[in-house]
Amino acid sequence: MAPAPSDTETAPTGEELARAGLRLAVDGPVARVTIDRPERRNAMTGRMWAALARIGRTLPDGVRVVVLAGEGDIFSAGIDLGMFSPEGIGGERSIVAEIAAGTVDPEGVDAYIAGLQEGFLWLRRPDLVTVAAVRGHAIGAGFQLALSCDIRILADDASLCMKEPALGLVPDLTGTKPLVDIVGVHRATEICLTARRVGAREARELGLAEAVVSAGELPGAVDDLVAALLATDPDAAAATKALLQQAPGNTLQQQVAAERRAQAARLTALAGARAADPS
Ligand code: ACO
Repeated sequence: MAPAPSDTETAPTGEELARAGLRLAVDGPVARVTIDRPERRNAMTGRMWAALARIGRTLPDGVRVVVLAGEGDIFSAGIDLGMFSPEGIGGERSIVAEIAAGTVDPEGVDAYIAGLQEGFLWLRRPDLVTVAAVRGHAIGAGFQLALSCDIRILADDASLCMKEPALGLVPDLTGTKPLVDIVGVHRATEICLTARRVGAREARELGLAEAVVSAGELPGAVDDLVAALLATDPDAAAATKALLQQAPGNTLQQQVAAERRAQAARLTALAGARAADPS
């Protein structure tokens, strides 16, 4: 379940975001989140994921579309490998050190990972449409972040790689479900267990990209998509996304019943609007 927005928490300041390696620009209904650690190839940290989760909880009302991108010519090199070192990353909790020292129990590890996953889960919220604009590498956690979005637009230099198994890990940042939903369990197994790079053209063929354009065309393609998304009625868009999200887990009977319920709510809303403004 995607975390709910917060009524009380304040949005992170620009300084806090910079410390977490992020930038945020909100312009009316559009929020643009940029991973901004180009000197580390936009590698991601626990602090960054906490800030991402906080962005999700504190987005201003009225934001309908969120665009995620990486600074420069790379989306993200995945987790900052310093997080796996015994000393960890300065100022951040090192779960590896805690496990080695026996100072965290299994519930503690579970809660720690659940906290990291919050940075990715909110991107599924039905009231938002989330778009990943991917240039260059999207590795490991970077690939999973792109998978968390509703729509992926790739530059033709993009390369997707689920590196975790090659490092002795599993992908645990919410990416396995969308990957399997999109490519099926067999192709997902092959992609994950070989940790190979999937180029933009293959990603398009597999349904991992909704569009592939040249790197120069990427900003314009994203802008055109955002404009088209904003032209749709916001309540109908939210109801439709919620309906589509439940389709893979529903039987046909459950899904058609869900369609009826959602449409009854839409018809009621439309009838109410017409009664209030007959013109
Ligand atoms: N974590 C920390 N630092 C990183 C990471 C990372 N994931 N990726 C790159 N960097 C650092 C490099 O150490 C290097 O630092 P330095 O300048 O101090 O030497 C700097 O970023 C530039 O990296 P290069 O490797 O020189 O950049 P290049 O463009 O040649 O290669 C690439 C880019 C392919 C992304 C390469 O850096 C790479 O393979 N990185 C590691 C990817 C990885 O294994 N990620 C973890 C996946 S698993 C997960 O996300 C859960």
